[in-house]
Amino acid sequence: MRTQIVIIGGGPSGLLLGQLLHRNGIDAVVLERQTRDYVLGRIRAGILETGMCNLLREAGVGARMEREGFVHDGTVVSFGDTRFGINFRELTGETVMVYGQTEVTRDLYDAREASGCKTIFRAGNVIIHGADTDKPYVTFDVEGVGQRLDCDFIAGCDGFHGVSRKTIPESIRTEYEKVYPFGWLGILSETPPVHDELIYAGSERGFALCSMRNANLSRYYVQCSAHDKPEDWSDDAFWEELKRRIPQQEADTLVTGPSIEKSIAPLRSFVTEPMRWGRLFLCGDAAHIVPPTGAKGLNTAASDVYYLYHGLVQFYHDKDSHGLDQYSQKALARVWKAERFSWWFTSLMHNFPDRTAFDRKMQEAEIEFLRTNETAQKVMAQNYVGLAY
Ligand code: APR
Ligand code: PHB
Repeated sequence: MRTQIVIIGGGPSGLLLGQLLHRNGIDAVVLERQTRDYVLGRIRAGILETGMCNLLREAGVGARMEREGFVHDGTVVSFGDTRFGINFRELTGETVMVYGQTEVTRDLYDAREASGCKTIFRAGNVIIHGADTDKPYVTFDVEGVGQRLDCDFIAGCDGFHGVSRKTIPESIRTEYEKVYPFGWLGILSETPPVHDELIYAGSERGFALCSMRNANLSRYYVQCSAHDKPEDWSDDAFWEELKRRIPQQEADTLVTGPSIEKSIAPLRSFVTEPMRWGRLFLCGDAAHIVPPTGAKGLNTAASDVYYLYHGLVQFYHDKDSHGLDQYSQKALARVWKAERFSWWFTSLMHNFPDRTAFDRKMQEAEIEFLRTNETAQKVMAQNYVGLAY
């Protein structure tokens, strides 16, 4: 078999890239290790930057997002007894879209199937060959039958645990990592959101986040030990802890209910450089991970896709490889800014086990500066709504 682009990974990065390439007449085959239902069963974040929304519209999959998504002008930040709003629209002229990543992925799969583009599920033992030559190819097996796919380029969209990053020789790769000493315990509940905007809450007991998916589906998180397991937390224990961390007026009005999903995510910052090796290009979680505090995971994958898609269109339409040659540098320039914001917001809002009294005072001073200084709020708002591509 032969195609122009092999996309390894059928998550949001791979699917968005595939759809954008298809709409520009470039053929790509997606190799996904799991099944479609398995991929859609993953619960992930739900905040889309304008750049991501525009890419979805350009890919022809923005309609349901426009109908069912919620435009948010700002967010609430609370810290102990302090509570204030950050108005993105007033400060930056921009907003964010609340629309679950699961729905984004579902829309992309529906569009891919409607376009007749090839997706190979249950692709096992994917191996990248000749990425540093001008004749790369990928081998894999499906139901035990070995396959080979020759191509011009390979997009490694296979996430943190994928094969693509590890294909780049260690002598060429530089990896940067920070592992946070806590996790996020998240639940989904079929209850009305406690507030019409998100609430990022810092407290003596740890961080909490109040988010949502729709008018009757809420998403809540509490900071927990990195060693906790979801089964360590009953629903009642979760709700009681959440109430002790969020502002009193929301604690008093919170509608609780049975969790329909409960999971713990570890928090890490991670970047690998470069994001290109020969004809292999890394995209999204394959190249970088952020703690979810700044909602930058999917949105940074989107800017990678933007740079790679434009580079490939330039190559095939104009026989110009400048965009591909600049890909890693341009993608990493924005990745590192997202890493910084996510690290900053995580450091500001969480309780670190080794936190000293002085550290606590620094957090309080930073919160007070954010509460009272418009420039500080503008910097936070610009990062949250998304920096320019
Ligand atoms: N072969 C084929 N597919 C693979 C392989 C492999 N060896 N390894 C992983 N995959 C698939 C996974 O099953 C998954 O569906 O690659 C996909 C990677 O998807 P994500 O991990 O979602 O990464 P990405 O598409 O970059 O999306 C980034 O999604 O997971 C969130 O937090 C993440 O918000 C971020 C966004
Ligand atoms: C979510 O809705 O899951 C969510 C929202 C904002 C974040 C992280 C997660 O920063």
